[in-house]
Amino acid sequence: MLVLKSPEEIAIMREANQIVAEVHEELKLRALPGTTTRELDQIAERITHKRGAKCAFKGYRGYPSCLCASLNEVIVHGIPSDRELKDGDILSLDFGVVYKEFCGDAAITIPIGEISAKADRLLKTTEECLLKAIDKMYEGNRLSDISAVIQEHAEKNGYSVVRDFVGHGIGRKLHEDPQVPNYGKAGTGIRLKRGMVLAVEPMVNEGDWGIRILKDGWTAVTKDGSLSAHFEHSIAITDNGPFVLSRLD
Ligand code: MF3
Ligand code: CO
Repeated sequence: MLVLKSPEEIAIMREANQIVAEVHEELKLRALPGTTTRELDQIAERITHKRGAKCAFKGYRGYPSCLCASLNEVIVHGIPSDRELKDGDILSLDFGVVYKEFCGDAAITIPIGEISAKADRLLKTTEECLLKAIDKMYEGNRLSDISAVIQEHAEKNGYSVVRDFVGHGIGRKLHEDPQVPNYGKAGTGIRLKRGMVLAVEPMVNEGDWGIRILKDGWTAVTKDGSLSAHFEHSIAITDNGPFVLSRLD
């Protein structure tokens, strides 16, 4: 169900998303060659509990961890493990909390040590896709205006957008209506309305958009083994336009 949020609820959702952003800031500092993704998961959980929040992903449909840590060709839902990060990796960190009964959700992809110019261009372009999408989030625009600009910017740069995972409404539940695909034709779909809060999350592959799920039932990788990047913000549509709740003050 699509639930519109009051200004008071948006203020609480902002607090939830600020915790997510704080976790990301800390993980950026701690994600060095030699660190394991399990250590990052523990850091994320510790900060979340210290702030009086809960991890939104842990136990969600049986997901085993707080953090999704997706390395290189992993698109999303990488399960933290004892694998050590190494120089040249790219690492997507997707994280969510529940705070005062509302969810926060955001993702970043970060370089580990020194990465190739090729990988760096993928990260930059994927983040640009998200920023361009946010620029469309004004009352009266259409939902697919968001989708279309993501697809257009990714493909213009020679990349493809993942079809199998989508952004989503967010609120008391992690996943609410509407779904927000990262591809589509502008000018179609529902109209954006004040009080909507959407988690917009482009996933962009260097190669083809085909995916494969590993035997653990979660880890989604590119079928062709190419690199993949993921950026996500939770954004409220207000009278003054888009309000990026997960952007740190
Ligand atoms: N940001 C992702 C999403 O919104 C992460 C979900 S991970 C899960 O779907 F474990 F909670 F499924
Ligand atoms: Co999400």
